[in-house]
Amino acid sequence: MADEQEAALKEQLAEAGARLVSQKSLIRQLKADGAPGEQVAAEVNKMKEVQAEVDALQAQISGPVFDRDGFDDVILRRMIVVPSFEIHGGTSGFFDYGPVGCALKDNIVNEWKKHFVLRERMLQLEGTCLTSEPVLKTSGHVDRFVDLMVKDDATGVCYRADKMLEDHIENLISADPGMDKEKKEELELIYRQADAYSPDELHELISERFKIVAPDTGNPLSKPFPFNLMFQTTIGPEGHNRGFLRPETAQGIFVNFKRLLEYNNGRTPFASAQVGLGFRNEINPRNGLLRVREFCMAEIEHFVHPDEKDHPRFHEVEDVVLTLFPQDNQLTTGRLVEMTAGKAVADGVINNQTLAYFMVRTHLFMKKIGIDLKKLRFRQHLKTEMAHYACDCWDAEIKLSYGWTECVGHADRACYDLKVHSEATKVDLRASRPLDPPQNVEYAKVEANKKIMGKEFKRDSPAIIAYIGETLPVDEACAIGEKLAAGEKVDVEVDGKTFTLTSEMMKVSRATKTVHEERFFCSVIEPSFGIGRLVHSVLEHTFDMRGEELVKEKGKVDRTLFKFPPVVAPIKCAVLPLLRKEPQEKLAETITETLVDAGVYATCDTSGTLIGRKYARMDEIGVPFAITVDVQTLEDGSVTLRERDSQEQVRIPEVDRAVSTVTALCSSRLEWAKVVEEYGLLSSA
Ligand code: ATP
Ligand code: GLY
Repeated sequence: MADEQEAALKEQLAEAGARLVSQKSLIRQLKADGAPGEQVAAEVNKMKEVQAEVDALQAQISGPVFDRDGFDDVILRRMIVVPSFEIHGGTSGFFDYGPVGCALKDNIVNEWKKHFVLRERMLQLEGTCLTSEPVLKTSGHVDRFVDLMVKDDATGVCYRADKMLEDHIENLISADPGMDKEKKEELELIYRQADAYSPDELHELISERFKIVAPDTGNPLSKPFPFNLMFQTTIGPEGHNRGFLRPETAQGIFVNFKRLLEYNNGRTPFASAQVGLGFRNEINPRNGLLRVREFCMAEIEHFVHPDEKDHPRFHEVEDVVLTLFPQDNQLTTGRLVEMTAGKAVADGVINNQTLAYFMVRTHLFMKKIGIDLKKLRFRQHLKTEMAHYACDCWDAEIKLSYGWTECVGHADRACYDLKVHSEATKVDLRASRPLDPPQNVEYAKVEANKKIMGKEFKRDSPAIIAYIGETLPVDEACAIGEKLAAGEKVDVEVDGKTFTLTSEMMKVSRATKTVHEERFFCSVIEPSFGIGRLVHSVLEHTFDMRGEELVKEKGKVDRTLFKFPPVVAPIKCAVLPLLRKEPQEKLAETITETLVDAGVYATCDTSGTLIGRKYARMDEIGVPFAITVDVQTLEDGSVTLRERDSQEQVRIPEVDRAVSTVTALCSSRLEWAKVVEEYGLLSSA
């Protein structure tokens, strides 16, 4: 759309928006004054007209409004995703995948494994969901894996504080399309920072500034306070051993690091990957699969030397353009920037090559599974928002009917995880690499009188010696040595206990040695995918309607379809007998079997429904290809092959060729245009 045209539409929208606001306020006033019902109803009708005008203008500017009702209807009716325990009333935050949903999810996970695990030769791992307390205490989750919550003062109902603020701002903005530009920008800034505020800041905004009250009751809200999102249980019958359902799969990889490194012959960098369930006791689960309490995650932990985060394959992806939303822009202009990965790293926008490499790989993966790349952006975490372990973080966010939604986190977790697990367990989780040439390094040489130390400190003695000789920086250790040599007593703290050293116990001096290898804690670059959010995103982005206006006019149900790329389509091919006659049905079943044997998930519809309706049913669950068997097939063995999105058809002279064509189309080795070129277009529905 031309800029002037868009500006004119925006002006009209602002004007219509202003009328909508005054109409709404008129209705509120009439209700408050106790005006007669008919008068209120008449004004409500007028308001609906203005609302329709606003919607139409908005649709012209930003494309058609997503038909959520139509979408939700298909999702439930075709059992793609359904509420769990539905016949018992359901529990919010839990969903089951039906046949189509399962296959879609499996296909996304399989593509993910091909795209990441196989291609990058990652080491796959499957850890347990139930995790014993020390692991998650060490990682920081027991103390810090919290969201801020507010409570309805009277009913005790809880809400996630940042989401309350976001919803309130969204409502303010959408209720006033003609809002002053500066005011709108200020509100958007607060919106973008919502999950980075401290409890006090959130309290000020929620209760003082915006005077937000509980949505259902209008009661005042408590001050925000932290709520730990992990589900807790006890392991074993005695009930002494606390455990948690894991909130991320990553920890399972960190605690196995030593063995993984050995498996990899001690070499770094390397990556380990895990697909499995994560559990979070979300305060307000909502928006279907987007915020649930049990969800499939696919996580990669890529281990690199902390000072060498260049990636050997970065040159393959450096020219790919990413849509970025850096910290600074979030706090100022609110603008997205398009930039190649190479430039983003060179300019220091993205911290390092490995992080950028994975962001590009994610971008390419999204394209493969059917995400509209115009609705994908990478948003950098604000400093205050970053997870407790991370040093740079970019979320891949997808624009959905619910707004921009984080679907993949890309975090540089630095050395945090391996260090804390190593400190807590005393297991050395450092990697090493040869130094070529070997280096002379200074160290603190400790000459301990083990007899005196052993008598004084018993079993703590070796830990004290190791602390002075290995843990402390050389200068600090030598400073202790100097004090001891001068006859002073020195207190040192080791593992939380204080010990007093004297000159009889040890001498510490500066010395040099030749080392042949460097030992170091790896930094971890982590892409973390929420598979459920991706399933939802693929469903939304591929959802479409056929001849909407036409069908609506005739008062019929809209024909909807999912335009899944063949690689993720749950069912790849339908085989449809044109008539309900035994030879046609039998042949259709045989073709279906042949397709299945060739590894193509196919289905056969032998119901008595008309062919147009059969196509519509298959379109509705996104089946990309259909082979139709008719009278001519029985005569000469030829079949019709139909493509879902274009509804184009070709006639293929032999069944075997039709099967191999579909197989090639489904594995992306062949494009539909080539098929049309080869066989010629038969007809277009
Ligand atoms: P949010 O801010 O939306 O709660 P998060 O920052 O807590 O998400 P991460 O901790 O980075 O999310 O989790 C990694 C990925 O797991 C997310 O990108 C998302 O795809 C997925 N995920 C996280 N929480 C949920 C949830 N409650 N339901 C579904 N998927 C989730
Ligand atoms: N493993 C990243 C996360 O769950 O936050």
